[in-house]
Amino acid sequence: MTDTLDIKITKTQHSRLAETDFSNLPFGKVFSDHMFVADYADGEWKNFEILPYGPILMSPAISALHYGQSFFEGIKAYKHADGTVSIFRPDKNAIRFNKSAERLCMPTLPEEVFVQSIAALVDIDREWIPGKANHALYIRPFMFATDPFLGVTPSATYKFIVIIGPTGPYFSKALRVKIETHFTRAAEGGMGFAKAAGNYGSAMLPARKAAQEGFDQLIWTDAKEHKYVEEMGAANAMFLLDGKLITAEAKDTILDGVTRDTVIALAKDWGIPVEERKVSVAELIEGAKNGKLTDAFGAGTAATIAPVGSISVDGEEYPLSDPATRAFSQKVLSTLDAIKYGRAEDTHGWNYIV
Ligand code: PLP
Ligand code: COI
Repeated sequence: MTDTLDIKITKTQHSRLAETDFSNLPFGKVFSDHMFVADYADGEWKNFEILPYGPILMSPAISALHYGQSFFEGIKAYKHADGTVSIFRPDKNAIRFNKSAERLCMPTLPEEVFVQSIAALVDIDREWIPGKANHALYIRPFMFATDPFLGVTPSATYKFIVIIGPTGPYFSKALRVKIETHFTRAAEGGMGFAKAAGNYGSAMLPARKAAQEGFDQLIWTDAKEHKYVEEMGAANAMFLLDGKLITAEAKDTILDGVTRDTVIALAKDWGIPVEERKVSVAELIEGAKNGKLTDAFGAGTAATIAPVGSISVDGEEYPLSDPATRAFSQKVLSTLDAIKYGRAEDTHGWNYIV
């Protein structure tokens, strides 16, 4: 697996595995024993290393902190009943990783290096993968600029790091979502399609305001008219309207989600019509009122398939059906789980076995 990648490995002398409470795994708080680190300098990637997870020493002048040359990915690895470990579609994340890099004027990483570095780290920390239903190992690869220089210019040096940790689901209940018609996440020509750190930073104030009003997630709308839904804060928004799976097309304002792509592939397998197009707020509200909006969910790696319980726009809340009764998203969830945990045949070749 690591034939082509020469990785220096330093194992920890003090594993935290035994003292980790696997019955309490909130998203993003628990990290495994090791991390992967590589440096970019003199026009090439070098110093591939797996070492004990821990703090890194950085100059306070690094340009990532000042000008936001920083982005990340999110992937999950699963443990099957027979002990096999698989990573879900890391090749797709490798491609998206490089799209983010290009948009932020940062160096790309060969796709096989991206996948192999993740696989090597997961392999070393495979004992950290929870065996429980709805649980997985969350993989967070990221890259940031490290030149200690305050000029506004692309850095010449970067770090690529991968950290991983066991996790349960990101959301624990059906989401009360607010359709955001004032703030904007991304505009055409911007960087909405990149998994740029700055996209998440700029979403925090609108998300906090919505949380103060009792909402769990925002659904962003287009920057020009706020008439068409785009995506959620941490997932793509997908709907079953009048028997068709509809979702905003993956253009430059939207993160082209791996889960979104996976759900579309399953719907096509099942003969369900799929429309990737502009989805208007008006048609969703109409569908919520007349009962034709039979399913609505967020699709994402951390979010998995997160049911939307109600949609609110301009102070009006429209409740949707009981998520337990929704045939489509329930089938997506059970089919996906069966593939990821190795209980069903992986006909699309989505599992990368470690
Ligand atoms: N949209 C946003 C803004 C996200 O943060 C995510 C999560 O990664 C997604 C969509 C879903 O993408 P994926 O399914 O690749 O995780
Ligand atoms: C993911 O699903 O991997 C994400 O990146 C979402 C998140 C920002 C928690």
